Amino acid sequence: VTAEKAGFDHFMLKEIYEQPKAYRDTMMGRISDDGRSVVLNEIGMTAEQIRGIRKIQIVACGTAMHAGLVGKTVIESLARIPVETDVASEYRYRSPIITPDTLVIVVSQSGETADTLAALREAKRNGARVMAITNVVGSSVAREADDVIITQAGPEIAVASTKAYTSQLIAFYLFGLFLADTLGTRDADAIAEVVAAMHELPEKVERILTEAPVLKSLAESLAKHNNLFFIGRGVDFAVVQEGSLKLKEISYIHSEAYAAGELKHGTLALIEEGIPVISLISQEDLYEKTLSNIKEVKARGAHVLAVVNEGLEEEVGKSVDELFAIPKTLPLLAPALSVVPLQLLAYYASLARGNDVDKPRNLAKSVTVE
Ligand code: AGP
Repeated sequence: VTAEKAGFDHFMLKEIYEQPKAYRDTMMGRISDDGRSVVLNEIGMTAEQIRGIRKIQIVACGTAMHAGLVGKTVIESLARIPVETDVASEYRYRSPIITPDTLVIVVSQSGETADTLAALREAKRNGARVMAITNVVGSSVAREADDVIITQAGPEIAVASTKAYTSQLIAFYLFGLFLADTLGTRDADAIAEVVAAMHELPEKVERILTEAPVLKSLAESLAKHNNLFFIGRGVDFAVVQEGSLKLKEISYIHSEAYAAGELKHGTLALIEEGIPVISLISQEDLYEKTLSNIKEVKARGAHVLAVVNEGLEEEVGKSVDELFAIPKTLPLLAPALSVVPLQLLAYYASLARGNDVDKPRNLAKSVTVE
């Protein structure tokens, strides 16, 4: 068993460390030699069909849905097509407006999640084209979708998804660029800029991984609490939702992820002396806004850990108790870096609490029943 884990104590940790390779493998063969366009030969849609897409619905469960929240920002920003992201079990029963000019994207690591598969079938019945982002070739979702982008994360064993999520982000970046290229919403120079920054992501993840001991000691303090909060704005809000789920499922610490600006509309009532608040700031245009939210919780006694872009340490450091810096990248690509410390915090918190990291209670790796 230790051999399968390649020397790591748990599959989850091994899979976290496999992310640089998963990013490279998912990009491989999908970028032109000159780095100025994305080549997705697996997409059967013609340019004409792509130009006909009026809206996109991303449908998935759990962590895959969280990748879809980032996917919405990515596609809307790069291709200017309106995107909705739905939880598959809700989508099925809310009578969604699916038209032939809707593209439905289902996201599933396993490709076997019952609710996601049912959503795919519902979308096809209504005449939409369905694209799948999945990690498993030959899975039900891969077989039934019209187009499939396979994430090259390799087998994911731990119940808590890590490298599958980040590979799904890479798939969304590639697809967003592919749409932008076809629709002309981004020129080749702009595409080349994003592609170049994507190539730097694996090395930047490696730099974060070298800081694992720092995250371990931060997690050991968090593990003493039963409640905590995550806050972020913009795409950081999407990422903290994933950070919160990761922590819940394996450490059993209750946490909630909030859009930082929404705190004062209710949640602030729960902030009391000593409660940890993990605040993510990777979107520099929003950093002053989030900083003012940090000051609101600090004033009420919260213990704040800020995960911030390198370069913001001094400014943010004055207002928080703990700081963890992540390498800078383009704002749109930041989730592929910022989620990594949150994964490690969850892992080490689970470990500190003596839990079964790879097989948390009550959960299955793949949920094949409704
Ligand atoms: C992830 O950590 C969870 N265990 C869970 O939310 C998972 O992402 C969800 O069940 C969807 O699975 P899928 O990607 O295989 O469809």
